[in-house]
Amino acid sequence: MSEIDLQDKKANVSARGVHGLPARWYWERDIYQAERRQIFAREWQLVGPASDLPNPGDYTAAEVAGYRFFVIRDRDGSLRGFHNVCPHRASQLLDDGHGHCGVLRCRYHGWVFDTAGNLKRAPDFGEADWFRKEDHGLMPIRVETWRGLMFANFDAGAPPLVDSLGSLPETVKDYPIETFTKVRQAEFEMHCNWKNYTDNFVEGYHIPGIHPSFHALIDFSKFETTHGDALVIMTAPQKGGSIYGGLWLWGWPNFTLSVYPGGMNCSRIVPVAENRTRLVYSFFFRDISASAQELNERTIETNCDIVREDFGICERSQANLEAGIFQRGPLSPKHEVGVLYFHDRVRQAMAREGIVEGDWMR
Ligand code: FES
Ligand SMILES: [Fe+2]
Repeated sequence: MSEIDLQDKKANVSARGVHGLPARWYWERDIYQAERRQIFAREWQLVGPASDLPNPGDYTAAEVAGYRFFVIRDRDGSLRGFHNVCPHRASQLLDDGHGHCGVLRCRYHGWVFDTAGNLKRAPDFGEADWFRKEDHGLMPIRVETWRGLMFANFDAGAPPLVDSLGSLPETVKDYPIETFTKVRQAEFEMHCNWKNYTDNFVEGYHIPGIHPSFHALIDFSKFETTHGDALVIMTAPQKGGSIYGGLWLWGWPNFTLSVYPGGMNCSRIVPVAENRTRLVYSFFFRDISASAQELNERTIETNCDIVREDFGICERSQANLEAGIFQRGPLSPKHEVGVLYFHDRVRQAMAREGIVEGDWMR
């Protein structure tokens, strides 16, 4: 994908300033369906650490915006990805989450596939001279890894992962992220559009009002938000005792990575419907010994508390975005450059289907 010309913000700049996306983009079904096609069907998706799948037959199954997929360690040791869709009559093959299987057996009519996606048996199908097993394997998707993290893409023509990661590799080059061990995964559901939560993640403007205990641990007057290519970067100096290293990253279109002195966390922002979003967090630490366990647990709990604080406020905004009074609001040049960058990427994706904001100031 070509980089947006960030100097050209004509689409967002009116005589009255720089504005966020229109409210209806946060709840309209047609917008959500266009996002599925133009964003989630074609951009790389963070799946999780490859260390989740150490052995042949280990898999992780997930979804994003209604696309169900899984990544599995094949017998030859390679990682393979497939749509989680049986080619017989479309049943879902694997339940979401991590697991292990020698072969994949669809529970609907019992078709069996190997870990390379080949149909091995179609039991009791009957005689049919037109039916060839080799024509009915699982539908593959692309899987690549970067520094121990797996990503998947449904678009065979998408650019390589490393090109799509933009500024991320350079930004974290000094952090030994592949040496950290994943210790926990946590999921959260919230009633808001995925962009509503993303807007919240890519700005620190709300920290004093929504996260008072977190605010006490950072020098908020020096909180900075910048963006690179496909990346929003937030930093803040730490006060004594903070568990955070003060580097929070968001990558287009829907993953986050936060690095702190003894570990990191990453999350997938998963659209479930136009007004529902799931967050899937993974927590990693450098030291996973028994003596570090208490501190690690506290770090996880603190992070989860902050996430819950964000949910509450995002759900309140969502209700008003849907109510029809609010149209759209101005973005702070000091704090909301990340929101503007994210919105520009969404605008660019929607423009591919001819969807533009129109004359909102009537
Ligand atoms: S849908 Fe999977 S075997 Fe029929
Ligand atoms: Fe927050």
